[in-house]
Amino acid sequence: MKVLVVGSGGREHTLVWKLAQSKRVDEIFVAPGNAGTSKLAKNVEIESTDITSLVNFAKEEAIDLTFVGPEAPLVAGIVDVFEEAGLKIFGPVQKAAQLEGSKVFAKNLMWKYGIPTAKYETFTDADKAINYIKQEGTPIVVKVEGLAAGKGVIVAETEAEAIEAVKMMMNDKKFGKAGERIVIEEFLSGEEASILAFTDGKTIVPMIPSQDHKAVYDEDLGPNTGGMGAYAPAPVVTDALLDKINEEILIPTIESLKKEGIKYKGVLYAGLMIADGEAKVLEYNVRFGDPEAQVVLPLLKTDLVEIAEAIIAERLNEIKIKWLNKKALCVIMASGGYPLKYEKGKEISGVDDVDGREGITVFQAGTELKDGKLVTAGGRVLGVTALGEDFRETINKAYRAVEKIDFAGVHYRTDIGQRALKRINYK
Ligand code: AMP
Ligand code: GLY
Repeated sequence: MKVLVVGSGGREHTLVWKLAQSKRVDEIFVAPGNAGTSKLAKNVEIESTDITSLVNFAKEEAIDLTFVGPEAPLVAGIVDVFEEAGLKIFGPVQKAAQLEGSKVFAKNLMWKYGIPTAKYETFTDADKAINYIKQEGTPIVVKVEGLAAGKGVIVAETEAEAIEAVKMMMNDKKFGKAGERIVIEEFLSGEEASILAFTDGKTIVPMIPSQDHKAVYDEDLGPNTGGMGAYAPAPVVTDALLDKINEEILIPTIESLKKEGIKYKGVLYAGLMIADGEAKVLEYNVRFGDPEAQVVLPLLKTDLVEIAEAIIAERLNEIKIKWLNKKALCVIMASGGYPLKYEKGKEISGVDDVDGREGITVFQAGTELKDGKLVTAGGRVLGVTALGEDFRETINKAYRAVEKIDFAGVHYRTDIGQRALKRINYK
């Protein structure tokens, strides 16, 4: 069959890599893709948000199945458009994608149905928001309602910071329409984990729990990024806690959507804060995480096409999803300056020396080929993923590979996976 992957990051390279292993797949197209995807698939010059061109391309090429990486096209309704055109696509329809597209929708749903999450209020008026901050005290968290590429959340330590965040979002309109409504919520402390799950709206099957590293510098210092590294399985999520998350969060989420008349199909991602053996939802995403995909998909034994087809046909209960009993760890190599200003076009060396060897796969993100040379073309450039038997070995393997790769200004965290090591050593 012919498949199309929409997007251009490390997650999409991982999807392409996984789909290339499927016996069912003959040809893969990626729109728009990157230098890494071009080795396994045919890159097509269509932006991931250009839904009209994507559906026309899928019709012309008679694409059998489409996978969508990023949230923007899902929230804009790509699944509805493909389905109306009679094309098979894996992901939630627009109404279901509101779970990520509107934090107000997500919080109201959780509150209505008793799904554990931080206490909150929503505001369309800056003065009322500021009064609420003064009344509640700090630390407190201020979020824009809409999509903001991971930058629309301010965890404010002081009242002044929180007020500044409200002004930036509502008066200066830094996030445009996405910031017309904001959510102010209680600060939660604890350890974060990402639970991605496959669901057909009736059955929900959690994937292996993973953990992202959002801050740009070691020890979680500096501004938040799209994610500087990840590992799986995350030991903070014990088997007992995963059962509880399934019962108290995942199943209630699809059940409450159903009660609202919404069928959710695809990947549901719950970003959780865990403290004292209890999990609360920080946010939902309606897709694979990036870089969580780079560690979860390499551990997936089952054919992704088989899973996607079962979900589309609403017979997920009929298949068994299998996982490798290994550890996976991904270190993101970023352009110096990211997530703020950074330069592009730096030549990258060393990728071919490590990629595909000794349990290492290099998933490319912001890369392109220029005059036959691999150069940087984005903030997050590469995700170096290692598979191993235990975390210590896997961390060492990943960093040995990272040290062999270079480009001018490269930056990466040196502590990816240290939390997992600490937890395991405590036991
Ligand atoms: P979100 O996009 O809502 O997941 O927020 C991005 C990041 O902000 C999360 O991964 C957390 O690190 C942090 N965050 C969000 N909400 C809270 C909260 N209520 N308490 C503490 N940290 C939070
Ligand atoms: N790694 C966080 C996300 O994909 O949203």
